[in-house]
Amino acid sequence: MAREAKDHGLVFFHSREISSFPAMDTTPAYPTLRIVSHPLIQHKLTILRDRGTPTKIFKELVDEIAMLMAYEATNDLALEAAPVDTPLETTVGQRVSGKKLTLVPILRAGLGMVEGIYRLVPGARVGHIGLYRNHDTLEPVDYYFKVPGDAAERDFFLLDPMLATGGSAVAAVSSLKRAGATRIRFLCLVAAPEGVRRLATSHPDVMVYCAALDRALNDQGYIMPGLGDAGDRLFGTR
Ligand code: PRP
Ligand code: URA
Repeated sequence: MAREAKDHGLVFFHSREISSFPAMDTTPAYPTLRIVSHPLIQHKLTILRDRGTPTKIFKELVDEIAMLMAYEATNDLALEAAPVDTPLETTVGQRVSGKKLTLVPILRAGLGMVEGIYRLVPGARVGHIGLYRNHDTLEPVDYYFKVPGDAAERDFFLLDPMLATGGSAVAAVSSLKRAGATRIRFLCLVAAPEGVRRLATSHPDVMVYCAALDRALNDQGYIMPGLGDAGDRLFGTR
């Protein structure tokens, strides 16, 4: 640890702790998956998993993690030169080029991820896909679909905290593609291996960004260890 940093109280890392980390992990078994392993995300995710975390904090954490994940998931956005007049002279800066980003939460739980990302990309449009899982069959039932008309021209971030069996994600991506979308990324907080595989099989062009790849699904289709029912915990409806 640098002595000067210690003397100034600017101690961020301890000598025996890991002080560097890759922004995103990949694994050969899941070629479409990116695990966003930033320490702040992992810290917040642990509080999110805690059964004692109240609705208000849960909501704030989903918002914050979504924002941090979007920071990583946008790290390859194309830039173009942008002339700008500073108070002193004209210079050439950079701005994000290409079409506007469209955020599409899968209702209900995906709604919790919108605002955090919107703060980072205020020019984004927001579409909505309404889906719920039939509790017996675990298959998705769709009830709403609305995205901007020029879907073929846009980049889509499909948002849902949970990728469990993958049925909802596959159905949502299929709906977006029917509407003309070609560039889609799926952002979730917790993914199950089953869901990642199912989405990759049906839509191998869709990259998945998650904060954690959990162990498995239980008999009721819940992710283990997971964080429970994301929609119920977000909206206090148990
Ligand atoms: C949850 C979750 C996903 C879906 C994931 O929603 O938010 O949309 O389940 O499960 P899957 O990968 O097996 O399809 P739910 O159906 O509980 O609806 P809700 O958001 O309205 O509570
Ligand atoms: N949907 C949730 O909200 N949680 C799970 O664990 C699985 C599906």
